[in-house]
Amino acid sequence: MATAFSPQAEQKIQDICRRYPNTQAACLPVLHLAQDEFGFLSDDVLDLVATRLSLPKSHVFGVATFYTMYHRQPVGKRVLMMCTNVSCMLRGGYETLHKLEQTLGVKAGGTTADGEFTLIEEECLAACADAPAMICGRRYFLNLTPDKVDEALAECRKLPAHSHSPHGAPHGAAGATSAPAQKKH
Ligand code: FES
Repeated sequence: MATAFSPQAEQKIQDICRRYPNTQAACLPVLHLAQDEFGFLSDDVLDLVATRLSLPKSHVFGVATFYTMYHRQPVGKRVLMMCTNVSCMLRGGYETLHKLEQTLGVKAGGTTADGEFTLIEEECLAACADAPAMICGRRYFLNLTPDKVDEALAECRKLPAHSHSPHGAPHGAAGATSAPAQKKH
């Protein structure tokens, strides 16, 4: 297996494992860390996580394919998750999604030609009270109507690249908060 964690990532894994009762419980944050480290969770990366945590590969694969915040394919520097579930749909989520598609020149599920953004149509982001909602990295954009898309994208470009984890310190305004992991539907 050619894939290996950097010394910095290995130190973080040790810190994570100290905070959880067992390596199974540590699997979610270590997968987030691995995704930040390698950009996406390839089969090799899942093998690496399984080996490092002494977990069955089937368990790690199951976790990585259950949650939408884990990416199994390469993604852009920044991933935009735009919700179109019921609350967001009723408050114009599809209009906002279409504005994002139009502005970025890419359909939902695609990555811009410059590799800057991957746009994903997402299910509920647990921000229904402030629908329509979008997440970029660790940041929430709330009440995101089409007229706010340009401003939101400008903000997204300032966020750290390849930081797909929803965990950690929230960034700035617009209702920023850490996000729960999202199940695939
Ligand atoms: S339906 Fe969009 S955040 Fe819940």
